[in-house]
Amino acid sequence: MLAGLSSQTPDKIMALMRAYAADPRTDKIDLGVGVFRDPAGRTPVMAAVKTAEERLWRNQDTKTYVALEGDPAYLAALSGLVLGDAVPADRRAAIATPGGTGAVRMGLELARLANPSARIFVPDPSWPNHAAIIGFLGLERVDYRYYDAQARGLNIEGMLADLGRAGPGDVVLLHGCCHNPTGADLSAQDWQAVAGLLTETGAMAMVDIAYQGFGAGLEADAEGLRILAGQVPELLVATSCSKNFGIYRERAGALFALAPDGPTRDLAQSNLTMLNRQTYAFPPDHGARVVTEILTDPDLRADWQAELEGMRLHMQRQRQGLADTLRDLGGSDRFAHLGAQRGMFSLLGATPDQVERMRAEHGVYMIGDSRINVAGLSPDLIPRVAQAMLAVGL
Ligand code: LMR
Repeated sequence: MLAGLSSQTPDKIMALMRAYAADPRTDKIDLGVGVFRDPAGRTPVMAAVKTAEERLWRNQDTKTYVALEGDPAYLAALSGLVLGDAVPADRRAAIATPGGTGAVRMGLELARLANPSARIFVPDPSWPNHAAIIGFLGLERVDYRYYDAQARGLNIEGMLADLGRAGPGDVVLLHGCCHNPTGADLSAQDWQAVAGLLTETGAMAMVDIAYQGFGAGLEADAEGLRILAGQVPELLVATSCSKNFGIYRERAGALFALAPDGPTRDLAQSNLTMLNRQTYAFPPDHGARVVTEILTDPDLRADWQAELEGMRLHMQRQRQGLADTLRDLGGSDRFAHLGAQRGMFSLLGATPDQVERMRAEHGVYMIGDSRINVAGLSPDLIPRVAQAMLAVGL
């Protein structure tokens, strides 16, 4: 029976991780998968996470099941972090999920249950797993214009024009902040325009916010999402604690469904609970409990926020450092976008052939669309990366 399976194309980000690991060169540079790295190239466990884990180890006296939705304290704390007071609590349905990917998957499953012929409008480009999940669920994907590769920035006119074609029963996928892979985000004014358009057309947004705190700051990164949440009647929000708490492998995320009224909220909640039950029963709890401990203890929370802010500023400095070095070495400002954009990722604008040459000839690894993880840079590495870029003709 198993011989009847067809072979699967590996996810390009995961394939790159494997290729990097297999490369014997000791001076190789990893700008691939989206994990934070400190200047020494490590992905450390955050201090607040260590403290919270120590407390859990001391105080936790059972590991019995919690609830199909996940721990209510976790969902309340995380929903406050992401949504603030943009929407009253009695309009929020929620489930804990295994990471942000679990949240995206559950959000799309919910949309499919509500409307099996929903079209999912996806930014071009987007995180590759978005298209993979949509395709796997048999939903129709419609790409909308998002990034202007020539101008190296957001194409808001094209985006609004394309989103005008989404209607009731369709889903519009938006990145809450730190757009993956472009680093080009919507301004508050752009979010207002999107909120107005969705209110007019009746399409439902699903916001994937996996990098809150990596862009302009914890609150600033949620501003657009909150503008939207305050105006549209319905909204799905997929969030992740992988990056901003650095607990990647613990798989802590959540899906929020914001409903127009109490009865619809209850309906959404019962469907979300069912989805968790029949997919994996209970969501993972350890990472969720660590996050709750941090968010609900003022001292621990302050400690976490300070460390997160340090990570954000480190990434911002690497961006600016690369942009400045390229300007000095290349004599032009054509990479100024790298300094101006936010979050973990940007596109260099290289062709697949140039990306391949940077890997083969210079040991610099990035995704084939020339997405770099700026956290993989450091002051020591920036000159080498800049020289490799210029050497391949960028
Ligand atoms: C990435 O985009 O590199 C991260 O979100 C890791 C992943 O799962 O793809």
